[in-house]
Amino acid sequence: MGTSELFKQMPAVLLPWYQQNKRDLPWRKDRQPYHIWVSEIMLQQTRVEAVKGYYQRFLETLPTIDALAAADDDLLHKLWEGLGYYSRVRNLKKAAKVIVEDFGGKFPGTYEDVLKLPGIGEYTAGAICSIAYDLPTPAVDGNVLRVVARLWDDDTPVDLPEFKKSVREALASIYPENAGDFTQALMELGATVCGPNKKPDCENCPCKDFCLGYFRGNSEKLPVRLPKRGRREQDMTVFILSCDGQYALEKRPDSGLLAGLWQFPNCDGHLKTQQALLKVEELFLKPKEILRVVERKHIFTHIQWNMCGVYMDVAEKNDAFSWFTVEQIDREVALPTAFRQFWEEIDK
Ligand code: ADE
Repeated sequence: MGTSELFKQMPAVLLPWYQQNKRDLPWRKDRQPYHIWVSEIMLQQTRVEAVKGYYQRFLETLPTIDALAAADDDLLHKLWEGLGYYSRVRNLKKAAKVIVEDFGGKFPGTYEDVLKLPGIGEYTAGAICSIAYDLPTPAVDGNVLRVVARLWDDDTPVDLPEFKKSVREALASIYPENAGDFTQALMELGATVCGPNKKPDCENCPCKDFCLGYFRGNSEKLPVRLPKRGRREQDMTVFILSCDGQYALEKRPDSGLLAGLWQFPNCDGHLKTQQALLKVEELFLKPKEILRVVERKHIFTHIQWNMCGVYMDVAEKNDAFSWFTVEQIDREVALPTAFRQFWEEIDK
């Protein structure tokens, strides 16, 4: 089906549809490669609505690739706080340094060079090169796979690399001159009319005249996916320790989940009241009273934390932790959402 005459009609139909239906998004206001790059990294695994504010604040703070390459890690983590997948922002900085050193600070202009940058895979390289340079490089993510599985009425599991490859090749062969608009038109269709977790709105789809899935009544059954692997669950107790208006935080290790970000002290398992008091003594602190206990979950891709937050006043501070004021935790410290949800519960 890939390159059939019907499939080739897609650009002619999608481009005008996109002009009429495109959402007004901040990263569509210009085509500077740096801007497109930042937006595409933010949009990996993150919803458009969530990204909007972050995108603007990030570029106001770091308006150039040079500024990004020189940025302090704590500032980068703060700019990313709440977006999740923090390795993305560390890779942004690594790539910015490569661009400064190897490309004189100018974002590279070929797909091959873009693909070599840290944090950039085929999807992101395709998106940047088509949107910023109008190169015929498709950006095939879950949304585009869904659209094409339906167009082709293909029940191959879309998570298989072979399927993605055939979609990428088929799309590359029909790319029009205004490649950036075509990439975004495909994304737009896959995010709206043919969007995830809902019935496809086939009656309003510009592709319905050549969509085999629609023609054969199969669109709602597609795409097919491989069975998901289960998520591991981990119980933990989180201590929100306060002393004279300051709170204890520590930095997470430099590698692994949430590497290098701040956290409230915590330990494995759900501790009962007495155990929690003992644990805090083990940390060389003197518990005064448990103020309250709150249960929260946090879901990552492969793991779920079942967290029990214990709010406690302690008699003295010690050097095992860093002690921050409310103002500092609100404005300076990058505290990931898993922990910040306990912070939001405090009456400050
Ligand atoms: N998702 C990924 N990239 C996008 C873009 N440029 N516009 C809208 N949604 C997207």
